[in-house]
Formats: sequence, structure tokens, C-alpha cells
Amino acid sequence: MRLLVTGACGFIGSSYVRLACEDHQVVVLDKLTYAGRQENLEGLDVELVVGAIEDVDKVRAVMEGCDAVVNFAAESHVDRSISDQEAFARTHVIGTSVLLDVARDLGVGRYLQVSTDEVYGSIESGSFTEESPLDPSSPYSATKAAGDLLVSAHAHTYGIDAVICRGSNNYGPRQYPEKLIPLMILNALHGDHLPVYGDGRNVRNWLYVEDFCRAIHTVLLEGRPGEAYNAGGPDEMENVEVVKRVLALTGRDESLIEYVTDRPGHDRRYSLSSEKLRSELGWEPEVRFEDGLERTVAWYRENAWWWEPIRSGEYRQYYERHYGRALG
Ligand code: NAD
Ligand code: TYD
Repeated sequence: MRLLVTGACGFIGSSYVRLACEDHQVVVLDKLTYAGRQENLEGLDVELVVGAIEDVDKVRAVMEGCDAVVNFAAESHVDRSISDQEAFARTHVIGTSVLLDVARDLGVGRYLQVSTDEVYGSIESGSFTEESPLDPSSPYSATKAAGDLLVSAHAHTYGIDAVICRGSNNYGPRQYPEKLIPLMILNALHGDHLPVYGDGRNVRNWLYVEDFCRAIHTVLLEGRPGEAYNAGGPDEMENVEVVKRVLALTGRDESLIEYVTDRPGHDRRYSLSSEKLRSELGWEPEVRFEDGLERTVAWYRENAWWWEPIRSGEYRQYYERHYGRALG
């Protein structure tokens, strides 16, 4: 197949194309936002077109001749969506709508929307299934949910072959250090404070990025048209426990932990049931959190060339603005 993969200069998309380009021809469309990095595709046999998914002419030109579309393009950070949500609405709502319209017009064989457990909102106990109502609580998750609803509406109204794959919190190599795990790893390596929101007892369901990419590829190849599939990780954990494990792996003391003002509207717990993906398509997450975290810490230790330009660039200003203190 010839695949159009959008947003593949980011964290998960670049891991996905590493897998997909083994058997398929891949063309990437990416706007190269602060999180999009060309070096994430280094050494891969893929074609990169720089552009936005909301640019109809660009999308049409790049989608022509493709057999399937996998849409990763997104603004992915909840905290940034709280301070400025315009780009989130533009990319997740307008961008998704453009991709779907062009895919329908060109008769593309299959469309896959990469989505998140956050569209279901927070859950105190138990796990969300694909039947659970969408109840997002941040501007990030609300606009992602709007994208998902557009996908379902296009499948329902026009009969296009579209599927959704919703993942829980991913971690692994090449994740931009605004997110919990890489932020804590880099701060620990530098001896900076580790800023934990609120009481640190919010729970996330951690999924190693390669496991999510296998789930996405399985749904692309074998998912039933019009269906959504959840891909949850094997381990759930309170944030403070994640942070303590990072400290242990980096040889740092727990006194670096600093409890800071909570995120507004902070979802308490995410939890996904992957039973449908497991029983229908045979997917299982393979990497336990303990192993995945060790691999991730090792990757950040060994790849300073990747994160040094980030830590000395826009990220430094973002960090000061958001956390009210400078990086060491
Ligand atoms: P990321 O921020 O690392 O990468 C996003 C990529 O999209 C970047 O390369 C960026 O340049 C590109 N992009 C942004 N706006 C664009 C636009 N308008 N047009 C074209 N390209 C654009 O994000 P990520 O963590 O790799 O997330 C990828 C997808 O997976 C997103 O859809 C996200 O909602 C979803 N997801 C993420 C997680 C997670 O834990 N990170 C979990 C589940 C689902
Ligand atoms: P994050 O990586 O932003 O992912 P999401 O909000 O999409 O789940 O955050 C994961 C958890 O870590 C979330 O409960 C917020 C918390 N967190 C902190 O405690 N401190 C931080 O500096 C960051 C970035 C996140």
C-alpha cells in the first residue's frame, strides 16, 4: 500500500512509520510545529511533505494515489490547550474534516484516526469500553472528541471506510519533554526539581509507544469499517510513583520532587479496556512499564543530541512561562 501518514515527525507517528515503512510505501504530511522534528525520520525510507492537514490543496496533492490515510497530526499537550486552544480546534476539527472530505472525494480505501483515552473523560473505578459515552474535559480532549465524531459521521453518512484507534498515555523514545515522563527524566538527569501537579495521585494507564503503533497497524489492516478500538497499556500508576521510579533509574534523591499547583480540571484517572482489540484482532501490549521505562531512560541518556536543541530553544521559554521557574 501507499500510506499517507500525517503528523509523523512527532513522537508516535515517527515510531509508527518505522514499523509501516518495512512493508509499505510511506508519504508523510507534517506542519513541523514545535513538536514536529525532521530528525525523527532520519534514516527512514519515507517522503516528507511539509504542510498542514487543514490546507485542502496540499492535502489533495499529497493524498492522490494513496490507498490509506493514518492521521496522527495533532496538538498533543493538555497544558498548552488550557492556555491557548485555537490551534487545537484548527488541527483536530478543521484538519480532520479536510482529511475526511478529500479521502471521500478521492475514494481512498481506508482512513484511520489516531485518538486518545482522554475523549472518554475521567473514571474513578473500572475501565472505559468503546461503548462508553465521550465526555472530554480539557480543550485538548474536547477537540480530539470532535475529530472522532466527525470520523464516525463520515462513515455513517457517506459510507467511507474509516476506523478509530484510541490509545492510553504513551511513553518511549522521541517524546517531546513537555510530557510527564521525558520531562521528569531530563530534569532528573540535570538535577532540576521534578514538578508534580496537585497531590500526585492522578492515575494514568501507561502504554509503550511501539505497542500502540502495533495496535494502530493492526486496526488499519484488520479493523472492521466504522469501528473504534481501544488500546490500553498493561500498567496503571499514580504519577508520584512514576516519578519515584524515574528518580531511582537516574540515581537521584526523592528530595527533588516538588509538589506544584494542580492543572485546572485535571482528570483524576484514565483507564481503558482493550478487550475488543484483544479478542477480535489478537493485539496484546508486550512491554511492561518497568522494562519500557528503563529503555526510555536509557534512550534519553544516550541521545542528548536529540533533546539538547529542544532544551535550549522554545521549550525553555515554555517551561518558564508554565512552571514559573527556570530550567537549570
Ligand atoms: P506530537 O505532539 O509528538 O506530534 C504531533 C505531530 O503533528 C507533530 O509532528 C506536528 O508537527 C504535527 N502537526 C501538528 N499540527 C499539524 C497540522 N495542522 N498539520 C500537520 N501536522 C501537524 O504528538 P504525539 O504524542 O506523537 O501524538 C500523535 C497522535 O496520537 C495525536 O493524534 C494524539 O492525540 C494521539 N495520542 C497521543 C498519546 C500520547 O500519550 N502522546 C496517547 C494517545 C493518543
Ligand atoms: P501528561 O504527560 O501531560 O499527559 P496527559 O495529561 O495527557 O495525561 O501528564 C501525565 C500526568 O502527569 C497528568 O496527570 C499530569 C501529570 N503531570 C505532572 O504532575 N507534572 C508535569 O509537569 C506534567 C507535564 C504532567
